[in-house]
Amino acid sequence: MSRPLASARRWIARRVARRALTSLDMSRLSHSPAMVPLRRDGLDPVAELGERRRQAPVSRLTGILGTNVWLVAGYDEARGVLADHVAFSNDIRPLVGRTNATGPDAIGGLGSTDAPDHTKLRKLLTPEFTRRRLRELEPRIRRIVDEQLDVLEAAGPGADLVQSFAFPVPFRVICELLGLPEGDRERFREIGHARFDASAGVGGLFGAMSDSREFLIDAVARQRRAAGDGLIGSLLARHGDELTDVELGGLADGVFTGGFETSASMLALGAVTLLQHPEQYARLRDDDEAVDPIIEELLRYLTVVQVAFPRIARHDMTLHGAAVSAGDVVLCSLSGANRDPEFGDDADAFNPARDTHSHLAFGHGLHRCVGSELGRMELRIALQALSRRFPDLALAVDPSDLAFHELSIVHGIGSLPVTARSRCPVAH
Ligand code: HEM
Repeated sequence: MSRPLASARRWIARRVARRALTSLDMSRLSHSPAMVPLRRDGLDPVAELGERRRQAPVSRLTGILGTNVWLVAGYDEARGVLADHVAFSNDIRPLVGRTNATGPDAIGGLGSTDAPDHTKLRKLLTPEFTRRRLRELEPRIRRIVDEQLDVLEAAGPGADLVQSFAFPVPFRVICELLGLPEGDRERFREIGHARFDASAGVGGLFGAMSDSREFLIDAVARQRRAAGDGLIGSLLARHGDELTDVELGGLADGVFTGGFETSASMLALGAVTLLQHPEQYARLRDDDEAVDPIIEELLRYLTVVQVAFPRIARHDMTLHGAAVSAGDVVLCSLSGANRDPEFGDDADAFNPARDTHSHLAFGHGLHRCVGSELGRMELRIALQALSRRFPDLALAVDPSDLAFHELSIVHGIGSLPVTARSRCPVAH
């Protein structure tokens, strides 16, 4: 085939793939074997994922337009792929037909970028996540948590813990981190809400994603005139001359994307898990020493980010027995890896007494979550405060009625009706 014809065919195939993606009916896909890494049975990955891992830690998941997609479901194997930046690239632009890393057409932010662009962007962000910055944020997080617990209590029996607590806490924390002025937050909240709402389908989520990016590009332009006291203002002060509004807005949007739904889902599913393990909920309330092991085990057990950013093979290779070709997509199942017997024979159980060191809930390697310490801090403060304010927290519906997301990259739940009666209103 002539080169112009071949590239025209690739262009058409990409347009068709993108169209198909934005109009996908997820319910029709849910039983496709290709969806195994995104399917859940309540809080657990589906049993098929464990079976696949036992049969072969690396296996072919599917093919898209002539490109193989491989699933890596074993712990050592996933860790190895995530650490290998020589054999694998994070740059998915060739797959979706874009070429620009930072311009108006840019996609994916940090997670879909390789060195040297990734190194440059990540260096801009890391000073915003130092211990000092986290210490500054801590009292603000405590205040936000206490205010949202008041909202939860005021909502009375059947209150939705997602709407009153799990969603607004990380949302307001990100607004503080970014330094968005109060007047901007309501509009931003609506956009954030659309992102969290999987009911609009994939098309709705893509729309909400570009809305948040537009919003943040505009916020950067306004902060050039009057800088705020958060990440946007600080990046403008340090690098305002080198970065355009689009670049900075894109970076801020990457932080929003990375930090909002992940933490919201961890809070909501963390509450579900603790309600199923009342003895651990009580330990969280009474024993400060128990907080870290419980949060680490929640991160491992829930692994809300089900798959890492896709990696693309840079050359042909044999990967744990699988014949991977250059250009193939390699998906590391973090939820599969974190339930590997590496964590013990009871890896499918929630057990804060286990050694959870080096779980992969935040990924691994150069793209490991830049906000992991902030995420941990939010979870520690929010879940312990929940247990102290509402020691008798209970589900207001039958557990079988809980509607978990289906096929979501970030596993979560749309609503969580609870009965939240404060035993002692002053004991925050
Ligand atoms: C508990 C909540 C969180 C979880 C479970 C989580 C998980 C993850 C995972 C699995 C990755 C991808 C790693 C890979 O593919 O190798 C990631 C990347 C990232 N996360 Fe988080 N995250 C959380 C909270 C946050 C927060 C609070 C922020 C910021 C406010 C954040 C910002 C980011 C960014 C910017 C990246 C891209 C890093 C890069 O590519 O260099 N995350 N996160």
